[in-house]
Amino acid sequence: MDQQHQRIVKVINQLIDAPDSEVTSELISNSMNALTRYAVEHFKAEEAMLAESHYSDLEGHRKQHKEYRRKVVELVDDAKAQSDHVPEAMLQFIRDWWVSHILEEDMKYRHLFEQKV
Ligand SMILES: [Fe+2]
Ligand SMILES: [Fe+2]
Repeated sequence: MDQQHQRIVKVINQLIDAPDSEVTSELISNSMNALTRYAVEHFKAEEAMLAESHYSDLEGHRKQHKEYRRKVVELVDDAKAQSDHVPEAMLQFIRDWWVSHILEEDMKYRHLFEQKV
């Protein structure tokens, strides 16, 4: 799980840190596609793992993943509408969401796996 988190945060940071001259719509759409793929894979793996361990708040956690996906779809649609604009607010939302989700929500299930690490 941690490796998947790192991979996701890395894609986001690369996009945020890229100099303006290198940010093309192609770079944005490639990164967003990769990010969506990693996120979907990750949510699926994490939810399966939590279900297997009978995590008590699986439904709540699943809801947060779902809400993230809904919000990102909305932001991506907005960004497409203003084509050549770099969606700074979108990247910011995505980065903030992952950082707080990983540090707060994902930490809540950590004790279930502590003995296996
Ligand atoms: Fe999660
Ligand atoms: Fe996670």
